[in-house]
Amino acid sequence: MRSYRLIAPAKINLYLEIIGDASGGLRQRSDGYHELAMILQSIGLADQIDVRSISTDNIRVHCNHPQVPTDKSNLAYRAAELMVRQFPEAFAKYGGVEITMNKQIPVAAGLAGGSTNAAAVLVGIDLLWKLGLTQSELEELGGTLGSDVPFCVAGGTAIATGRGEQLSPLPSLDNIYIILAKYRSLEVSTPWAYKTYRQQFGHSYIRDSDNLAARANAVHSGKIVKAILDKNTREIAQKLHNDLERVVLPAYPQVLQLREVFANQEGVLGTMMSGSGPTVFALFESQQQAEKVKLQVREAILDEDLELFVTRTITHGIQVASSV
Ligand code: C5P
Repeated sequence: MRSYRLIAPAKINLYLEIIGDASGGLRQRSDGYHELAMILQSIGLADQIDVRSISTDNIRVHCNHPQVPTDKSNLAYRAAELMVRQFPEAFAKYGGVEITMNKQIPVAAGLAGGSTNAAAVLVGIDLLWKLGLTQSELEELGGTLGSDVPFCVAGGTAIATGRGEQLSPLPSLDNIYIILAKYRSLEVSTPWAYKTYRQQFGHSYIRDSDNLAARANAVHSGKIVKAILDKNTREIAQKLHNDLERVVLPAYPQVLQLREVFANQEGVLGTMMSGSGPTVFALFESQQQAEKVKLQVREAILDEDLELFVTRTITHGIQVASSV
């Protein structure tokens, strides 16, 4: 096969708790990242990534989205570079790689768009070069690119701790409907969100390594995990949580407004910002309810910059759509 078409789904955070970081104390997180406890959920909104062998010995990226760079600053490009570095013999044998990205996932939205594209490139090159990497090998490679990349490989529903790269799968949730709402021109920088959180709430971080581990472990027995195990959508929606809302909502009134508008609509089981934002999502028991509320939100916020998507939870990460 000389070409693979991959489907790369977005994710939302059903839960995001910031536990600590590396700024002092006993715990030695030398990378400046935060220790997190998250619950990540793959959703139907997805990009399409084509990965193809080419006769020249370079990496080429094309993208339909004008805001997405096609150079080394694109995480998908860096994923291909990583594979070239890790597997020089396969690179010499198969030649260069052309990546064509058809983006549907909004950029810089808190939906792991860049991370899932990178995961798709890892999976695609593994197939192109017949490397036979295992899921955990792909996840380990992904972890060197970004905190959400490992989750994006297999996707579904999972607890993520550490930087976000330590994964424990949960039973799949495949029947929850979602509205995603994002202002097209509004982007939130993830480093800014974490830095601001550290400035404002760093004093409450856990610094002792035993307590850090205990707190991270606590998510496994938390109420939202119980609700997921029980497949109780209403209870899941009641227990949504995201610490980053504490810094993003006050700084971005439009995001706060979306949260408030969703909270006041009938049929919304729960609403929360995803990741570092600015996407806000709302959960529903049926597609019909989601479509109805989408129309109501359109009427409540008369702004063409506002994008609304109806999607649902899905049970997988990167999938091969076709190969030629
Ligand atoms: O890993 P990724 O590149 O997605 O992270 C983007 C930024 O988010 C990091 O540069 C860091 O500022 C912040 N971050 C963090 N702790 C994490 C994950 C991300 O501080 N566990």
